[in-house]
Amino acid sequence: MKTIIVKSQEEGGKVAGDIIIDYMSSKSNAILGLATGSTPISTYRYLIKKTKEENIDWSNITTFNLDEYMGLGPDHSKSYRYFMNEELFDHVNINKSNTFVPDGHTKTQSDAEKYDDLIQSKGGIDLQVLGLGVNGHIGFNEPGTSFESITSIVDLTNETIEANSRFFKNKDEVPKKAISMGLKSIMNAKKILLMAYGKSKAEAIKNLVNTKPTTDWPCTILQNHADVTLIIDEEAASEL
Ligand code: F6R
Repeated sequence: MKTIIVKSQEEGGKVAGDIIIDYMSSKSNAILGLATGSTPISTYRYLIKKTKEENIDWSNITTFNLDEYMGLGPDHSKSYRYFMNEELFDHVNINKSNTFVPDGHTKTQSDAEKYDDLIQSKGGIDLQVLGLGVNGHIGFNEPGTSFESITSIVDLTNETIEANSRFFKNKDEVPKKAISMGLKSIMNAKKILLMAYGKSKAEAIKNLVNTKPTTDWPCTILQNHADVTLIIDEEAASEL
């Protein structure tokens, strides 16, 4: 695991953005795995800026997002599809039909699993972007999730609902379930970039790096992956 410590979220966005751009220039039809939440916003802003400055071509890029809230459709302003359109897709020349976000109206587990089939049918994820939950979740794979999990409908923990209530009017509005790529789905990516900023992520980062892989800290599974880069600020690194 390679660790890059940055001074700020803005610098992290630039470091991660440059890695993504380099990947895209070596493979114009790259398949990117993407995350939502606060963490990747600086990366997406940097990607948009560089795309405008350097005419970066997204027309052959395919993306798969990690997760979506159950019950929220693409037009809901708090849905992750809406977030991705606003924060990235509307600002680059990506073909929206090549951008995939799990469907928040998926009814059954066998339908959820079709997302993994779709990823595989496109050739698998080349570069996966991850944020990190304060409880060590990646995607919405909460503590206790099997390392063998594939895309599933999952329950969010109270901690995650609390943490994400900042995006909603209040805690009651936060969906209690999500559909998320599983830990195995994430581990199938060829290359992984995980970003974490701020003191609240320090304990999860400490466990990610130092604790023997355990489902108590889902992020520890990344120790078993051959190509992981952590981009973290000094606060997130403070317990290492
Ligand atoms: C988002 C996702 C989550 C977030 C994590 C951190 O698609 O899968 O794992 O990356 O909850 O969220 P932020 O970045 O808002 O602190």
